[in-house]
Amino acid sequence: MDMLVTVEIAQWLPLLDEALRQQLAWALELGKVLYFPQLSFELYDDELALLSPTLLSGERKNISLEHGEVRGAGGPPETRRQLAQMMGRFSEQADQLVRGLFPRYDAQLHGARTSFRPAVIDHRNLSATKDDSRLHVDAFPSRPNRGERILRVFCNVNAADTPRRWRMGEPFEQAAQRFLPRIRRPLPGSAGLLSTLGITKGRRSEYDHIMLSLHDRMKRDAAYQADAPQQVMDFPARTTWVCFTDQVLHAAMSGQHLLEQTFHIPVAAQYHPENSPLKVLERLCGRGLIA
Ligand code: SIN
Ligand code: FE
Repeated sequence: MDMLVTVEIAQWLPLLDEALRQQLAWALELGKVLYFPQLSFELYDDELALLSPTLLSGERKNISLEHGEVRGAGGPPETRRQLAQMMGRFSEQADQLVRGLFPRYDAQLHGARTSFRPAVIDHRNLSATKDDSRLHVDAFPSRPNRGERILRVFCNVNAADTPRRWRMGEPFEQAAQRFLPRIRRPLPGSAGLLSTLGITKGRRSEYDHIMLSLHDRMKRDAAYQADAPQQVMDFPARTTWVCFTDQVLHAAMSGQHLLEQTFHIPVAAQYHPENSPLKVLERLCGRGLIA
């Protein structure tokens, strides 16, 4: 089992022939990680100073850019302006990459948060479910997405050649088969209650309930973390990778200085919707999960 598909392009606006495009779309939507060893995000000389954890405000691990606004960073206005510029440029290039690779997504792809992680990964003192160095699929506790996909572009921008070490787990369907029998149905009325109380933004579908349960149960299962089929990958500095993080079991083990762009896309806009977590889970459960 190899979770990676290597793509030898060096431009953020790629020109691919149709056969290769189809092959990459199939692999990505099957739950592989597309790895671009020649594709790097260039920092300007005066941006190198931004590669510093001292820019994080308080206990934050992420600096984010959303709707043009920088959050999670302290520092003087000039530094925040530089951050917005660097992260905005990355966001544009990630957008070009995804739309260039997969024109079918274009009309229904929307860019969400851009994130910059300037600190060394440190998973000590984290509760199991908050610890991203344990294999997991991404799921949002407060933002139900009703099957909508989470696509992420990652770029290691470390200036000291430190790789970002990930673990990647077994295919989604296998993991789902393993954990589903232990996941109970949500309590009747709980979705409405969570929404009324403002704990979730909108109603949590059964799909969201299962995805969150998968996330939590997987992370809490020490034997699974140690023994489940998995692959370690060191993503070198100045490389890029792309995957559906709601589908690829992933864990971030070590490294520093990461840029990440999140996109959302409806299942129906995919090349092969039948391989999405929603369709896989609905098949395994034998019923609709976003009614
Ligand atoms: C994650 O998405 O779980 C973490 C990715 C990373 O920081 O490398
Ligand atoms: Fe994650």
